[in-house]
Amino acid sequence: MQKRTAAITSLGGYVPEYRLTNTELERMVDTTDEWIQTRTGIVERRILKGEGKGTSDLAMPAVLELCAKRGIEPAEIDCLIVTTVTPDMVFPATANIVCDRIGAKNAWGFDLEAACSGFLYGLSTGAMFIESGRYKKVVVVGADKMSSIIDYSDRSTCILFGDGAGAVLLEPNEEGYGVLDTILRSDGSGVQYLHMKAGGSLMPPSIDTVTRGYHYAYQEGKAVFKFAVTGMADVSYEIMERNGLTAADIAFLVPHQANKRIIDATSHRMGLADEKVMINIQRYGNTTSGTIPLCLWDWEKQLKKGDNLVKWAY
Ligand SMILES: CC(C)(COP(=O)(O)OP(=O)(O)OC[C@H]1O[C@@H](n2cnc3c(N)ncnc32)[C@H](O)[C@@H]1OP(=O)(O)O)[C@@H](O)C(=O)NCCC(=O)NCCS
Repeated sequence: MQKRTAAITSLGGYVPEYRLTNTELERMVDTTDEWIQTRTGIVERRILKGEGKGTSDLAMPAVLELCAKRGIEPAEIDCLIVTTVTPDMVFPATANIVCDRIGAKNAWGFDLEAACSGFLYGLSTGAMFIESGRYKKVVVVGADKMSSIIDYSDRSTCILFGDGAGAVLLEPNEEGYGVLDTILRSDGSGVQYLHMKAGGSLMPPSIDTVTRGYHYAYQEGKAVFKFAVTGMADVSYEIMERNGLTAADIAFLVPHQANKRIIDATSHRMGLADEKVMINIQRYGNTTSGTIPLCLWDWEKQLKKGDNLVKWAY
């Protein structure tokens, strides 16, 4: 009997209307459209405007679209995982807020916090729930309102990030389609290069932490860049090799969208032609947990049953 796998059977996505362009950023910080495009590939990013709106406002429409496309009611969802570093609140989980707001009254859910790797960790976790036979419909939503933790006076980070969400529905498959293999690793040793200092138990928020800007994302771009280029190429190669796949067998690479130069370096080392690489960073910037499902959402019409996709993030 064929092993039970977790197949992606529907997709949804959402990006807010407001476009923060490089030209607008030129008026906010000392930067240029030329610098941003050459160093990152980004032209504009979407921003969720308006009081009282959080990550659940991004996740909700993505999940509702996914349900409508599959012809199911939210009440049929068994489990919903929101991957995010910008939850509506520290608790309760944004997943629970989303479930309540869309009427997924039979689902349990939780938030998974792993920054840009979040969606892939969520996908892998959700897939295991399906493979175990325990659940039939698991939704994984990658959603981040990055604008809520970005310092718009810091030119080295504010040009990079945007808001958005993408969602996939996982269902059991017995024909061999779905999540076939994963390599997941984590390394906490680089904490000094990418973090948010305050707001956690180590440094609870205070007037002092806010004055110092410790509630914003902090990044040392060059260090992260180096780590990403070497780590991503190695792991992409490894997963192809152990599954007996060559570049010719891959329909698309679905990379985390943090910097077009990182994507290009990795895809070239994998020997993939440019048309096999999903890139939408120019339109959305880095939406953290949202990047990979938003790529799938944008490319949906070009995907066929049985296409081999390699997804990576760091
Ligand atoms: C952030 C990033 C785009 C910066 O590009 P870079 O080529 O590494 O640039 P550097 O940080 O070395 O800065 C080069 C110069 O540009 C300047 N600079 C930084 N941001 C700038 C901006 N927005 N506009 C103009 N100049 C800028 C720097 O101050 C520096 O000037 P100096 O040489 O006079 O000191 C790049 O390092 C990167 O993408 N890193 C990885 C990010 C990532 O993947 N993050 C993961 C999050 S999930």
